[in-house]
Amino acid sequence: MTIVKSAVDTSSGEYADAAKAMVDKIAEVDEAHATALAGGGPSKVERHRKRGKLTARERIELLVDEDSPFLELCPLAAWGSDFQVGASVVTGIGVVEGVECMIVANDPTVRGGTSNPWTLRKSLRANEIAEKNRLPVISLVESGGADLPTQKEVFIPGGALFRDLTRLSAQGIPTIALVFGNSTAGGAYIPGMSDHTVMVKERSKVFLGGPPLVKMATGEDADDESLGGADMHATTSGLADHFAVDEPDALRLGRSIVKRLNWRKKGPAPRAEVREPRHSPEELLGVVPADLKVPFNPREVIARVVDDSDFDEFKPRYGSSLVTGWAELHGYPVGILANARGVLFSEESQKATQFIQLANRAETPLLFLHNTTGYMVGAEYEQGGIIKHGAMMINAVSNSKVPHISLLMGSSYGAGHYGMCGRAYDPRFLFSWPSAKSAVMGPAQLAGVISIVGRAAAEAKGQPFDEAGDAAMREAVENQIEAESLPMFLSGRLYDDGVIDPRDTRTVLGMCLSAIHNAPIEGAENFGVFRM
Ligand code: COA
Repeated sequence: MTIVKSAVDTSSGEYADAAKAMVDKIAEVDEAHATALAGGGPSKVERHRKRGKLTARERIELLVDEDSPFLELCPLAAWGSDFQVGASVVTGIGVVEGVECMIVANDPTVRGGTSNPWTLRKSLRANEIAEKNRLPVISLVESGGADLPTQKEVFIPGGALFRDLTRLSAQGIPTIALVFGNSTAGGAYIPGMSDHTVMVKERSKVFLGGPPLVKMATGEDADDESLGGADMHATTSGLADHFAVDEPDALRLGRSIVKRLNWRKKGPAPRAEVREPRHSPEELLGVVPADLKVPFNPREVIARVVDDSDFDEFKPRYGSSLVTGWAELHGYPVGILANARGVLFSEESQKATQFIQLANRAETPLLFLHNTTGYMVGAEYEQGGIIKHGAMMINAVSNSKVPHISLLMGSSYGAGHYGMCGRAYDPRFLFSWPSAKSAVMGPAQLAGVISIVGRAAAEAKGQPFDEAGDAAMREAVENQIEAESLPMFLSGRLYDDGVIDPRDTRTVLGMCLSAIHNAPIEGAENFGVFRM
């Protein structure tokens, strides 16, 4: 047993500065979360309530087990776009009758719960998480279907929503649709493709075409109820398996369906008795310096996240810019890779490659803690084979089969983002701290590269170089890249599953690991050819 010792001095000026910067950033994120929570705003929410309906979040609250936590995913989707933050759908993992389920709830107060490009990406991400981790999916449906002005971006790719539902079903992952209102046109295939359906008396409207469309198409006069009401579907078409008298009844029926699934998790159970970290997670507020150029020791994070602050380091004296080692988190074994001093050299890359292979042999999930500016550049390092060593690490990450979780604590730049299992490398979950930044490179470096290239081009053409124009360009580009590197921007584009308060890290990771263990944990048999 190796208990991590901490050197954090909570009475120091550095700690106070770092904590202040973090608290300010958390406040900004909280503000964005509040926008998502407000849905379509007070008037739309009030109108919805006056219709005797529950909001998406109230439905979720009544669905999940009393006092159980709900891990909301991608709450900042669409941040920075023309659409409402949250993208008119609430997704997350909740516990229903003791079963971890992926819950996807349309928010009918935001543009009638319609799907815009961000809604689609968020819903598809929820399906992906459900599939990889074998989580039953519960859809709480009330949506006007495609957001018509952006139909060109949602209609064709949107078919994947229905495809996913039946593919989940084919894999033995149950799908349940509770229909609270509109579920028309393509939306009718949400209940249509689900294993179990519940419809609400005089509320559900499930039809391919509503009354006006039917009139136009065939001349037939028909009303909502005869085309797609709960009563009709429960007694005549057979599309409704259960008839609910009202919304709470539908949620009760949803719970009873889950109870009868006889759901068994396929991954190993966690250790029964778990010790809390010896160092307080509260202190995570002041671990990341306000200026990311100042390095910090990731062991201080590990000490505040893993059980008993017990961390067995692997190769601690080799490739010391990357900390690797074994721990347990809420009783689940994990291998951790954490950047220490920003840059990844050949030694770190080789160490990571070996460590990832060991984790696959031991069938141990991996946690990547990002704070990297990327792989080392320069003649010495190129000659030393940094490309082939970085490629080794990326090969190992890409072909590793054990579940990965990524957490962006600070920088996550360049190919370092890839090697540390960035978004494109399919981590089961990826969260950011408010202090995170991710881009192809730092803003100053990126602006500088453009400037050098421009200067060389002017010289080659024999033209004078516009120094003032260059300075203005650099400033504009730096500002733009800085804004595009920030966690809310990245979260808005669905490049992470959420921005979390560092103090919640242990809880969030514990919930993720628990969800992950619904699926079997298996290591890779094969990796790509390692270039030696
Ligand atoms: N695309 C884009 N915006 C839509 C929309 C759609 N498909 N459906 C509704 N909206 C917008 C409305 O314009 C309105 O915007 P506003 O808040 O700026 O005024 C807002 O969503 C709420 O619509 P409203 O009709 O007031 O809400 P409602 O709760 O009474 O009814 C619907 C919601 C979804 C039942 C109703 O709007 C509707 O039938 N929409 C068309 C559905 C459709 O045909 N979809 C195509 C399926 S592929």
